[in-house]
Amino acid sequence: MARLTVEELASVLSLDEFESLAQQYMTPAAYAYVAGGAGSELTVAENRAAFNRIRLNPRVLVDVTSIDTTLNLFGGKYEYPILLAPAGYHKLVHPDGEIETVKGANLAEATLVASIFSTVGIEQMSAASTRPLWFQIYIQTDRGFTKALVERALASGCEAICVTVDVPVNGPRDRELRAGFKLPRGVERANLSSLGTAISAASHRPAGRNIYAATHGADVTWKDIDWLRANLPVKLLLKGILHPEDAELAMKAGCDAIIVSNHGGRSLDTVPASIDALPAIAARVAGRVPVLLDGGIRRGIDVFKAIARGAVAVLVGRPYLYALAAGGASGVARAVEILRTELEMTMGLAGCTALDQITERYLL
Ligand code: LAC
Repeated sequence: MARLTVEELASVLSLDEFESLAQQYMTPAAYAYVAGGAGSELTVAENRAAFNRIRLNPRVLVDVTSIDTTLNLFGGKYEYPILLAPAGYHKLVHPDGEIETVKGANLAEATLVASIFSTVGIEQMSAASTRPLWFQIYIQTDRGFTKALVERALASGCEAICVTVDVPVNGPRDRELRAGFKLPRGVERANLSSLGTAISAASHRPAGRNIYAATHGADVTWKDIDWLRANLPVKLLLKGILHPEDAELAMKAGCDAIIVSNHGGRSLDTVPASIDALPAIAARVAGRVPVLLDGGIRRGIDVFKAIARGAVAVLVGRPYLYALAAGGASGVARAVEILRTELEMTMGLAGCTALDQITERYLL
């Protein structure tokens, strides 16, 4: 079935619409993998419910003729505070995989955090990208390989390394298991191909009572963060922080930013929504490093709420995968366009003209 044209995409009005549209372009197993989460998926639901519970407290009669969403981060300028989160296996949703995503990010002037589990190598992704990518990794059991992979990413031009720290073992993923999800033939972890097909094409979940995955080191600790930090010439972010003490340790380890995240509810079920974990972490960090957030962002209003609670920027995951499925690069660009337009509308309606004005004062 032909993907949506640019004209058809213009009539998609919200990120949620992409999810139903996407299902026509995805196998049921791929959809179960992307949409599903851990355990009873309580945290998946809570990521949305928590945003919906927050009430705004707008101000009126503010001149909002000029609304500026520019984010200054790591010495650079970003047009708006929304990044594309690392997510694995884009060839599950589009035949050109991450190359198509990069084209969408290019159209949207978006920064994409490339996943270690991309189905196109990081070098090809960087070559297709008009702006530097960030690169997300899981520290692998083979630390030498991990180091070499980081070096490949840096050599290709990536300007930040983001280490996901919330999956030392697998959580239960009933939905994808029930759907019989495994990586289809031809969909491989391109960055891991030198580790052999046993890993690059391994089925996503280990079977039976094995809780360990070949693609995540279960022995990763803070000393590995120290090891990675040493001599890393770019910014280092930790993704998957939910506890203020861990935020403190991340700063002690020299991390440049923290991403408050529960992995889209895909790792440990019944942890709080990221938006509810954010205030205590922002208070503890107290501006020493930027705090970012992912999990449940579906509207510009959610971006505003995350910033009001102390984030400098957010990342979106599932919505852009659905947009990629439904409309390819143009779909990704449309999803970002909706979100950033809604953010501007929210700012204007709340009486804010720049990101640094968005504070708790605008929440009830
Ligand atoms: C997941 C892994 C790829 O959430 O991060 O499925």
